[in-house]
Amino acid sequence: MKGDCFKKMIVIGSDHGGFELKTAIKGYLEEKGYNITDCGVFTPDSVDYPDIAGQVCTKLLSDKAEFGILICGTGIGISIAANKIKGIRAALLCSTYSAKMAREHNNANVICFGGRTTTFEQAKQMLDAFLNAKFQAGRHKIRVDKIMEMEE
Ligand code: RB5
Repeated sequence: MKGDCFKKMIVIGSDHGGFELKTAIKGYLEEKGYNITDCGVFTPDSVDYPDIAGQVCTKLLSDKAEFGILICGTGIGISIAANKIKGIRAALLCSTYSAKMAREHNNANVICFGGRTTTFEQAKQMLDAFLNAKFQAGRHKIRVDKIMEMEE
């Protein structure tokens, strides 16, 4: 498909609570032609979600990836952990509307899902809404800049 070779990298990771959904999302994005870097987990064995948040966010920032995807059981713990990392704006998605707004208004660079609260079908719809949206800048940039200044 035209333009596919220009698709940037997406970094993905989950704990055991998001392992199944991560595997499904990864396949969905690869089918769409995205270049996916998978930071694990690669088995359903129990791990600590802050470790995965750290790995995905570090990779995202160092490789200047387009965005990151994090999944734990609810998406709550992993989004809280990601938002502790400088440069990260992680949004826990719960609808196609929030997915669209996460990009248009908040310029989120990480989106989070709950593997135990979100079906693959719902996640695909939210992903598409996020992928098709664009940061609207303007007054939203002023607000996002204020968030980023809070890191200083
Ligand atoms: C792991 O059992 C669970 O606590 C984790 O996946 C997540 O839901 C935390 O917010």
